Amino acid sequence: MTMLESTREFWRRDQVWPVLMDDDVKVDVSKQVILYVEGLSVSFDGFKALNDLNLYINDGELRCLIGANGAGKTTLMDVITGKTACDTGTVYFGQTINLLKHSEAEIAQLGIGRKFQKPTVFEAQTVWENLELALKASKGIWYNLRASLSASEQDLMLGILDTIGLQTQSKQLAGALSHGQKQWLEIGMLLASQPRLLLIDEPVAGMTAQETERTAELLTSLAGDRTVVVVEHDMEFVRSIARTVTVLHQGSVLAEGTMDDVQNNRDVIEVYLGEEA
Ligand SMILES: Nc1ncnc2c1ncn2[C@@H]1O[C@H](COP(=O)(O)OP(=O)(O)OP(=O)(O)O)[C@@H](O)[C@H]1O
Ligand SMILES: [Mg+2]
Repeated sequence: MTMLESTREFWRRDQVWPVLMDDDVKVDVSKQVILYVEGLSVSFDGFKALNDLNLYINDGELRCLIGANGAGKTTLMDVITGKTACDTGTVYFGQTINLLKHSEAEIAQLGIGRKFQKPTVFEAQTVWENLELALKASKGIWYNLRASLSASEQDLMLGILDTIGLQTQSKQLAGALSHGQKQWLEIGMLLASQPRLLLIDEPVAGMTAQETERTAELLTSLAGDRTVVVVEHDMEFVRSIARTVTVLHQGSVLAEGTMDDVQNNRDVIEVYLGEEA
C-alpha cells in the first residue's frame, strides 16, 4: 500500500481522530450527496417528532425546509448535529461518515455548522473579536487562545467580514448591532470554522424587509462552495432563495420540489387547508 492509499484508507474509517480533527476532514461526496438521512424516527414520550424520515441533500445546494409548527424541522437539525439521539434510522455525512457515531462537538469539527434562531453573539465584544473567538474556538483545545492570528487567518476573517457585509462595523460592539446584523455576525462566526454544511434555523424571523433581502443574498452566496439547509416560515423569503423545497409534515417528508411544485401539490394543499379550517 502506498502512502497515499493508506492515507485514504485512514480517512475512510468511520471515526475522526482527535489529533486530526482541526485539519481538513475529507467528506466523500463522490456521489454528489453530502447528507443522507434514512428511516429516521425520534419520539418524545411516545410522540413521534420524526417518523421514518428520508432526506438527501446534494453537495453545494441551498435547500429550504418548510412545514407547520411542530412538523419536526428543528428536531431533524438536532439529530443531524448530535444534540438529540434518534430511535431508528441512519444519518451519513458523505459516503463514509456515520454521524450517529459522533458527539455534538465532533460533528461541529467534522464541518457541520448550526445556527439557532436566536443570535448568540458576545455583546460586550466587538464584531472582529467575536469572529476571532469563533475562529480560535473552532480550532479546538489544542489551539492557544492568546496566540495571534496568522496571515491566512487574518485573510479568512477579512473575507468573512466582507461576506457578511459588516466591514464598517468591525470595531463596533456586537451589542450595538441591529437584530439583522447580529444574525449575520453569527453566520460569520459559523463561517470561521469553515463548515461544509450549514444548518440555519429561521434566519429572517424578526428582520426588516431590507435585512431579509440581504440575508437571501448572503445565503445564496454561501451555497455552492458549501451546502446550506435553511428552515424558514417566511414563504416569500423561501421563494426568493430556494431551488428545492422540502415540506415536512408530522415528522415525515410530505413533498419535495420547486416552490411551484410544492405549492401545487395536492397533499400540501390538503394539509395546509386542513390546518386553516
Ligand atoms: N425535547 C423535547 N421534548 C418533548 N417534545 C419535543 C422536544 N423537542 C421537540 N418536541 C416536540 O416535537 C415536535 C416537533 O418539534 P420541532 O421543534 O422539531 O418542530 P418544528 O418543525 O421545528 O416547529 P417550529 O416551526 O414551531 O419551530 C413538537 O410537537 C414538539 O413539541
Ligand atoms: Mg423549529
